[in-house]
Amino acid sequence: MTQLPCLGFSLNTFMSLCCSRDTPFQLSPETLQEVSARLRKDLLRGLGKHSHHKAPVKMLPTFVRATPDGTEKGDFLALDLGGTNFRVLHVRVEEEAQKVQICAIPQEMMLGTGEQLFDHIATCLGDFLESHNLKGQTLPLGFTFSFPCEQLEIDKSILIRWTKGFNCSGVEGKDVVQLLKEAIHRRGDYHIGSVAMVNDTVGTMMSCGYKDQSCEIGMIIGTGTNACYMEEIKNVKRIEGKDGRMCINTEWGGFGDDGCLDDILTEFDVEVDKTSINPGVHIFEKMISGMYLGEIVRLVLVKMTKDKLLFKGQISEALGTPGRFETKFISEIEDGLENAKKILTELGLDWDLVDASVVRLVCDTISSRSAYLCAAALATLVNRIRNNRKLGHLKTTVGVDGTVYRKHPTFSSKLQKAVRLLAPQCDITFLVSEDGSGTGAAMVTAVAQRLAHQSRLLEESDGEDNEEEEEEEEEGQ
Ligand code: GLC
Repeated sequence: MTQLPCLGFSLNTFMSLCCSRDTPFQLSPETLQEVSARLRKDLLRGLGKHSHHKAPVKMLPTFVRATPDGTEKGDFLALDLGGTNFRVLHVRVEEEAQKVQICAIPQEMMLGTGEQLFDHIATCLGDFLESHNLKGQTLPLGFTFSFPCEQLEIDKSILIRWTKGFNCSGVEGKDVVQLLKEAIHRRGDYHIGSVAMVNDTVGTMMSCGYKDQSCEIGMIIGTGTNACYMEEIKNVKRIEGKDGRMCINTEWGGFGDDGCLDDILTEFDVEVDKTSINPGVHIFEKMISGMYLGEIVRLVLVKMTKDKLLFKGQISEALGTPGRFETKFISEIEDGLENAKKILTELGLDWDLVDASVVRLVCDTISSRSAYLCAAALATLVNRIRNNRKLGHLKTTVGVDGTVYRKHPTFSSKLQKAVRLLAPQCDITFLVSEDGSGTGAAMVTAVAQRLAHQSRLLEESDGEDNEEEEEEEEEGQ
């Protein structure tokens, strides 16, 4: 357990002063195993033909039936919406060459109309084509759209709901490819070729898969969190056919939306959810990802200050303002005490050395919980793949991306260590993606398009799933 050096007592003692539970943020290995087991059940609900539409973990078919074999070639455009930045890219796959342009999406636009958003995207793409002399060409386009979508075909993708701070009107329930094409048509000054829709997890898996062909999981821990993996088609009851595999976008951020994680939520998680623009939605994501971690830390610090445990009981204006404690501060503060001092000063706080050490421990506790919860979820996926293939031992690669995983000083090592404990029969290599949302989108466009027509979704219905489907046996869990 983390010790607070200057005071000689643990952070838990601190935490238990402000929360009713003993160790609200520190989950035991048994609890993590329990979280992993609950997710395992939710994966099955999401895969079921009839249980799917009520399942919190959506398990969305992606129509990507193969990972790259390394021979992919070609020239592609890619759009990337839903991460830290909106980007437009031109990718030449075999040369690993690309040109990138970052375009800001102003906050008002994230909450405006869908038409404004897609007009803006079409403008950014038009400007990019113009400045790179590409306007005369009709290139295929991979659209990394990192929100939960019901994909009907590779180029037909219905937005289920916005997440991560976006809430544009008139887009939920609509085909995003159509909205993009209409916006381009409204301008009328350029054309695009065929479009492939890609979730960022899938792009990440595919870009890593180009280098390491045993990569069959893609994981994002950035603004949001999510993972995809290669599932046996026979287990995806909503898909016609029994042979082969298909990449499933789990949308594990929605885990807990039915209340199944309520027993591990802290009062701070409840507050973050309540004050978000989508209360009750993506509960797991709100405990883990970059959009929310800073705010959890801020709420804990405010509570401790009110309880006169920090900063002589004085809350500065910045600390009292929602969103002012950025997630990147957590990485910086954990990286060194000097950073902590600088950030606390910038936040207008009257701190002493003990305060600075306590703040570091708060950051460490909250980022560690995030890493361990991700580890529990990833353990569920690797254990599932191992059981699917009836293997005693699985060797696999996970492609990873996202600012929290990349930038935090100890997040990745904590996550990896915990997965090894929770999935001891799996030997996992972690590969950080070199731009899953650009190269990966191009890769999906190259690999998946010709394969997309081989599967289609079965009709949805309201009946109950067979018990057999719900209670699918898995060994060794
Ligand atoms: C959110 C989105 C999901 C995306 C993830 C990571 O959870 O719903 O589609 O993959 O963020 O960006």
